[in-house]
Amino acid sequence: MLIIHTIKLILITLNILPYRFTHRNVLFLIYLGTLVTHVFMDEPRFAQPIPNVTVAVGRDANLPCVVEHLGTYKVAWIHIDRQMILTIHRHVISRIPRYSVTYDNSNTWLLHVSQAQQDDRGYYMCQVNTNPMISQVGYLQVVVPPNILDIESTPSSVAVRENQNINMTCRADGFPTPKIIWRREDGQSITVERKKKVMVYDGEVLHLTKVSRNEMGAYLCIATNGVPPSVSKRIILDVEFSPMIWVPNQLVGAPPSTDVTIDCHTEAHPRAIIYWVYNSVMVLPSKKYIIDYNENSYRAHMKLTIKNLSTGDFGNYRCISKNSLGETEGSIRVYEIPLPSTPSKQITHLVEPKEVVPPRNESIKVAQPEVIFPIKNDESYAQRSPNGIPFERKGMPIGQSYYTDMPPKDFGFPNAAGSLRWNCETYYTVLKILSISSSLTYSYCISNHLFL
Ligand SMILES: *[C@@H]1O[C@H](CO)[C@@H](O)[C@H](O)[C@H]1NC(C)=O
Ligand SMILES: *[C@@H]1O[C@H](CO)[C@@H](O)[C@H](O)[C@H]1NC(C)=O
Ligand SMILES: *[C@@H]1O[C@H](CO)[C@@H](O)[C@H](O)[C@H]1NC(C)=O
Ligand SMILES: *[C@@H]1O[C@H](CO)[C@@H](O)[C@H](O)[C@H]1NC(C)=O
Repeated sequence: MLIIHTIKLILITLNILPYRFTHRNVLFLIYLGTLVTHVFMDEPRFAQPIPNVTVAVGRDANLPCVVEHLGTYKVAWIHIDRQMILTIHRHVISRIPRYSVTYDNSNTWLLHVSQAQQDDRGYYMCQVNTNPMISQVGYLQVVVPPNILDIESTPSSVAVRENQNINMTCRADGFPTPKIIWRREDGQSITVERKKKVMVYDGEVLHLTKVSRNEMGAYLCIATNGVPPSVSKRIILDVEFSPMIWVPNQLVGAPPSTDVTIDCHTEAHPRAIIYWVYNSVMVLPSKKYIIDYNENSYRAHMKLTIKNLSTGDFGNYRCISKNSLGETEGSIRVYEIPLPSTPSKQITHLVEPKEVVPPRNESIKVAQPEVIFPIKNDESYAQRSPNGIPFERKGMPIGQSYYTDMPPKDFGFPNAAGSLRWNCETYYTVLKILSISSSLTYSYCISNHLFL
């Protein structure tokens, strides 16, 4: 205080003697005086900057302002973004009850923000009412963990018809703005634009085009913004299509008094009702029939075992698959094979018929494994048979189905034994048609690995 008075006195003196000092000298003297005052005398000054503080929404934050030599001056806190004086000295001015101020004896004026809200984000000024006033600012960052907005997002279960497009959306708020990624729960890849496969897709909207049944399943959208916890939403995509049946063996021969098993593969969604029909009657489990349905997701493997074959059991069996979108069926002919005689007699027959079988291709067509599709015009299913015979497409009486001779790529393939079986059956049938030999047996064909 003494110094200030001294400076004032000097200034007065200078005014009295203006001709002795230039204007610049006066300013220099004033500056020197102020400097001396601030450094050596008890004038308020900030001991350190206000730190930048980050707080999660709902948590408490403290902003310190350290002032030395405050003397009789007062410290005020101001929220610049709201243009609002919060505290002066130890008084809270703001009506926002979450602000308070404490002073400790080591010169720290602490602004408390309890249960920080997003509006509290921004620059805070600590000001001392010197003349001119001194101030410094710090930043309070209020971060918000991500939150998925259910109302603006796809519901947790959606259905789409096969080959249609669907957009799945996930919107989230939070601060900073969250990033959204998509994954499939089963770890499979996602097919995005131009049939590109990715494990993870970035973006709020997942566009799926010409959805196939393989894309059915649970999808997860995950929102992250660096503020824990990340959140995710599970969306189940149902891909609906009418039933399809694939019959691995259309012709099955067996001797009387033996057991035979026939099978059909079917795919359908929604889940289909599946059953067997023989002689226009639904086949029910009994001593005669063992029925086994092995279902896995939208696929089912239907097996029917007919025990102790008798004359009345030879004929046409149909496997039927029905859902809300349609119905289709496959047909299997179970025919009688005479009981095997000794193989030694048959070897001579075997070579000749092979040479003499021009209509063989016709017959093979009959015995091709078939796939029955309710929907055609889908290139992915248009395949060629392994032996080069173009597949045949026939209209089905039920559900406008079609035959192809190969299952789609993703359809469970017949194993080698299965293919051997139908080759032998085919051969047997050819021989039978040509009346060449009725004694060459199916089991002989199998055991000699013919046509492998
Ligand atoms: C606080 O952040 C601002 C930028 O947002 C920066 O200019 C300033 O230096 C930071 N202060 C401290 C004490 O880190
Ligand atoms: C998906 O979104 C794209 C672009 O936003 C739009 O053109 C398309 O019609 C949407 N598809 C569906 C099925 O909503
Ligand atoms: C099989 O059926 C015949 C009649 O067709 C019967 O005599 C025989 O006992 C049956 N065998 C078995 C094992 O059930
Ligand atoms: C299949 O048989 C037909 C006669 O039905 C014949 O015209 C055709 O050339 C045969 N194809 C092959 C590959 O042998």
